[in-house]
Amino acid sequence: MLKLVTIFVVLVAATLAVHDKFRVEFQWKYINVTWPSEDARLAALQNEEYIPENNAIAGIKLWKHRMYLTVPRWKNGVPVTLGVTSATPQNNVTAPNLEPYPNWEMQKVGNCKAFQFVQSMEIDPKGRMWVLDTGRTATMTLEAKARCTPRLVILDLENDGKVLRSYEFPENVAPKESAYLNDIVLDHREGGIAYITDNGKEDPGIIIYFLQNNTSWKFRHESTNAEPEFTGFMVANTRVTESVHVDGIALSPASASDRLVYYTPLSSLHFYSVPTSVLINRTETAGDYVRELGRRTSQTDGIAMSATGVLYYGLIADDAIAAWDTKQSDALMQTVISRDHRLTQWPDTFAFDEEGYLWCVTNSLQNFINNKVNISVPNYRIIKSQNGGLKSYQYFENGTAPELPYIAAGASQITFAFASCLTILLVSIIQ
Ligand SMILES: *[C@@H]1O[C@H](CO)[C@@H](O)[C@H](O)[C@H]1NC(C)=O
Ligand SMILES: *[C@@H]1O[C@H](CO)[C@@H](O)[C@H](O)[C@H]1NC(C)=O
Ligand SMILES: *[C@@H]1O[C@H](CO)[C@@H](O)[C@H](O)[C@H]1NC(C)=O
Ligand SMILES: *[C@@H]1O[C@H](CO)[C@@H](O)[C@H](O)[C@H]1NC(C)=O
Ligand SMILES: *[C@@H]1O[C@H](CO)[C@@H](O)[C@H](O)[C@H]1NC(C)=O
Ligand SMILES: *[C@@H]1O[C@H](CO)[C@@H](O)[C@H](O)[C@H]1NC(C)=O
Repeated sequence: MLKLVTIFVVLVAATLAVHDKFRVEFQWKYINVTWPSEDARLAALQNEEYIPENNAIAGIKLWKHRMYLTVPRWKNGVPVTLGVTSATPQNNVTAPNLEPYPNWEMQKVGNCKAFQFVQSMEIDPKGRMWVLDTGRTATMTLEAKARCTPRLVILDLENDGKVLRSYEFPENVAPKESAYLNDIVLDHREGGIAYITDNGKEDPGIIIYFLQNNTSWKFRHESTNAEPEFTGFMVANTRVTESVHVDGIALSPASASDRLVYYTPLSSLHFYSVPTSVLINRTETAGDYVRELGRRTSQTDGIAMSATGVLYYGLIADDAIAAWDTKQSDALMQTVISRDHRLTQWPDTFAFDEEGYLWCVTNSLQNFINNKVNISVPNYRIIKSQNGGLKSYQYFENGTAPELPYIAAGASQITFAFASCLTILLVSIIQ
């Protein structure tokens, strides 16, 4: 028996051993942006529309040698909440200024056609970026403000970021005053689906959005709630006490027969899964299908799945990154693939590129949360590791992409205009 176990462990280690060491690709003391002019920069500093230490990067996704980053408006003074820069350092500059994406207009605080608070997005294999906007600003402060309805916005990266769809979540799915759209994964089936974690304090859950009929619903279950015994932990001698509901989310790969959504609250050590079939069917008893998959050694933030079913996640209280080959074992089997007490403080979000690298944002969030950011030292890093050519869960195991839904631009507006005309016509006829 003991022998069998040993062989098994060796096998698992072998499949995960393709990893190179993570190396630091970018590193910032503070996040800065490409200002339209020197006057604009000075004005923003003066009126506190830009407060350098309040800008922390969180989300990362890559498309065609460009790196898209998010700067959530956790505090005041964040000029750009969705930015872009080259995915390779230009002229050896490893702390590039972010360009607003798609433009400055889309970053305006208080304009509900623009982004208010972007933390996460996902890019599908056709280059469409699905962006979550929680709609609130300064969420980590006493001045938190619900400015716009939480929404999902789809941009076409192949067409200058043109808006293809803007969907406002109904109040009963994502309450405007409290929703917190944390992370998103995409499923190409059934005309296109997004699974989204909402860790709002009032009504946490997993939101399922159907592209085809432009509707959403929310899956609620006790497994999406923070577990009180895991709300406190230490990172690099700094204590964090936060109660955070469901946060990390991953989807088993396109090749899997019954795809599962994996998720975990940040304040938890447990991974859970629920089959996509019951989420797609809107099964009333979906909660009966939830499985608890095992216990990690630490809290985790973002998680991500490869095309071969390897789940990557951070161990925040251990400055480490771990992997679990879900094809080898249904229950959690944790292998630490990287640990660095200086460079891997708070692994926040993962991304895959098309060259087989695994990327990760580490942002020392323990300092940011405790208002202890020192902009004289590096605070935010992007590290990457050659990952044996692996792509993300959105691809088949052989690296090809499934057929993806077509998303027409602005079709709804036309339909809406037509419907309004018809209504006016009918009303005038009746009168
Ligand atoms: C931000 O970038 C601009 C343009 O490169 C530079 O002049 C400025 O010193 C940087 N830092 C701040 C805090 O504005
Ligand atoms: C970048 O740095 C490397 C090593 O420090 C140096 O050899 C190279 O010339 C630099 N490239 C540019 C464009 O400055
Ligand atoms: C989808 O729903 C949103 C409601 O938030 C609406 O504004 C939009 O026009 C709809 N789009 C389509 C394509 O039906
Ligand atoms: C989902 O609905 C389909 C069609 O009604 C049905 O065949 C299938 O068994 C359902 N799956 C689950 C898990 O409820
Ligand atoms: C939208 O599509 C999904 C998936 O096909 C389906 O489960 C759901 O019932 C549909 N919703 C409406 C309102 O038609
Ligand atoms: C910030 O870092 C600098 C450089 O290491 C150090 O000299 C300074 O004391 C630090 N400030 C605080 C408040 O810790």
